[in-house]
Amino acid sequence: MTLTSPSTAPAARPSETTDPGAWWRHAVIYQIYPRSWVDRDGDGVGDLPGVTARLSYLRDLGVDAVWLSPFYPSPQADAGYDVADYRDVDPLFGTLADADAMFARAHELGLKVIVDLVPNHSSDEHVWFRAAVSAPEGSPERERYIFQNGWGPNGDLPPNNWKSVFGGGAWTRVSEPDGTPGQWYLHLFDTRQPDFNWDSLEVRAEFESVLRFWLDRGVDGFRVDVAHGLVKQAGLPDWGEEQELLGRPEDGDVADQRSGGLDGDAVKGPPMWDQDGVHEIYEQWRKVLDSYGRPDRILCAEAWVEPAERAARYVRPAEMNQAFNFDFLQCPWKAAQLTAVIDHSLAAAGSVGAPSTWVLSNHDVVRHASRLGLSQDERRPNGIGADDVQPDRELGLRRARAATALMLALPGASYIYQGEELGLPDSTDLPDEVRQDPTFVRSRGVELGRDGCRVPMPWTKAGPSLGFGPSEAAWLPQPACYADLAVDQQVGRVGSTLELYRSMLSVRRGHRLGEGSLRWLEAYADQPDVVAFANDGAQGSVTVVTNLGATFVSPPVGTVLLSSDELDAAGGIPTDTTVWVRS
Ligand code: NOJ
Repeated sequence: MTLTSPSTAPAARPSETTDPGAWWRHAVIYQIYPRSWVDRDGDGVGDLPGVTARLSYLRDLGVDAVWLSPFYPSPQADAGYDVADYRDVDPLFGTLADADAMFARAHELGLKVIVDLVPNHSSDEHVWFRAAVSAPEGSPERERYIFQNGWGPNGDLPPNNWKSVFGGGAWTRVSEPDGTPGQWYLHLFDTRQPDFNWDSLEVRAEFESVLRFWLDRGVDGFRVDVAHGLVKQAGLPDWGEEQELLGRPEDGDVADQRSGGLDGDAVKGPPMWDQDGVHEIYEQWRKVLDSYGRPDRILCAEAWVEPAERAARYVRPAEMNQAFNFDFLQCPWKAAQLTAVIDHSLAAAGSVGAPSTWVLSNHDVVRHASRLGLSQDERRPNGIGADDVQPDRELGLRRARAATALMLALPGASYIYQGEELGLPDSTDLPDEVRQDPTFVRSRGVELGRDGCRVPMPWTKAGPSLGFGPSEAAWLPQPACYADLAVDQQVGRVGSTLELYRSMLSVRRGHRLGEGSLRWLEAYADQPDVVAFANDGAQGSVTVVTNLGATFVSPPVGTVLLSSDELDAAGGIPTDTTVWVRS
């Protein structure tokens, strides 16, 4: 049996068939990491004119929207998640006019645009933080951030024992304007990313104004960075646990540590995350978005919150529209766990009337083509280096294709990360001296960090920087294996990962799978290594079967729409393969 042949034109866009205001309930959103997508000016860092020039690639891929990681003025201490000015574009990426041109081109192509908003912290080069450092203790300038006196006779000890997500302590001491050692400020991330004080009405008003700035320029929504971090527990009580960007659900930490149940103020979790007070901020933001009279503009929470019922609180009707589903991303390649996570995610989001979202890769985690090529009994690594156990590339890619085929058949919205449509693995041989993730430095190399998943895209096999830009320059070196995975090597080639993605997105759109509802298939209930469900929708049912076991599984009766890899001659579904069947 052969694979589905490459799609030609994508099927009708959802807005032609369904409520256009609800596009986000079933959309596929492509994450562009601007530093690494297309470099138009040849300086080795991607830019907005590069994005604009290549947007038609995404129209042809068949996605509905793009989300761009930050492109604002920034010293780039955390690759742009340290914003110095929320209303402009860093010259590294272009100009405000380039952003406008990019939005306009995306809209011309029928693509929505979501920008990244970073409200938990600014850069230490933000004009407010500079003013705070030059102003005295107790001044209104310091009120916008979290300044405190230290402990001990000379205030030499930090105000509490919180740790930074990137390693080390979460407090840095400033020198007062007269040169004496002074107060400490809180930074849950790098020392160059001071946390805002969300008790300050000025901070609240400022961010509502920033939302309006970008809404006025035509964006369709915001991905909200660290959405669970803005409000801290009053009194900033000690909490000495190590912090990690993605939480540690495999250790059962946050969920188990809560003593007050899922609802209400009595919840006792980490005092810096998921405080109930964050929700009134998002209710206010919802009103800002709604004030434009356009129900199609969205907020998506990046909230590493456990369990799913707590995450669902961010997507109640008066708040945000979506929250990333990190339980799905973190789930090992095991059928029973995948089934449980999918079931739980749909139930939790459904309990507040929200769609579930699905995601397998982003700029903060080892790409799923590499992650799934590692032992599924180990903890997910934060970066892979040359001295570490290397992922099995073939196995990882095969599983990644099957996992994505499973994901894209689920009802709800899906996020895909640039380059996963090429089956890109992480770079696992970056030399230490090129690493830029602050995690690497702050953890003294214990955590390699996220550079491996951020390497520039390969567009062509030949040519400088594999077509990323017009010069050899690339801010992170591309691994040798990227050449054969370049876009020009895959486009139009039957069986390539790129064509598989195009087929999946086309069939998903045509069958309106994002809008369907999920029904588990009893027929496979006695097969512990199989995930099997029907997606029932307006266009009928599509049956989806993923085989994670060692032996072939019989496909359901019907017409095979696509499969993530070849089926056997008799139509059996091999190991690590997903099939979509029209019943
Ligand atoms: C989450 C972002 O995805 C990550 O890249 C960043 O380092 C942290 N938030 C801090 O802004």
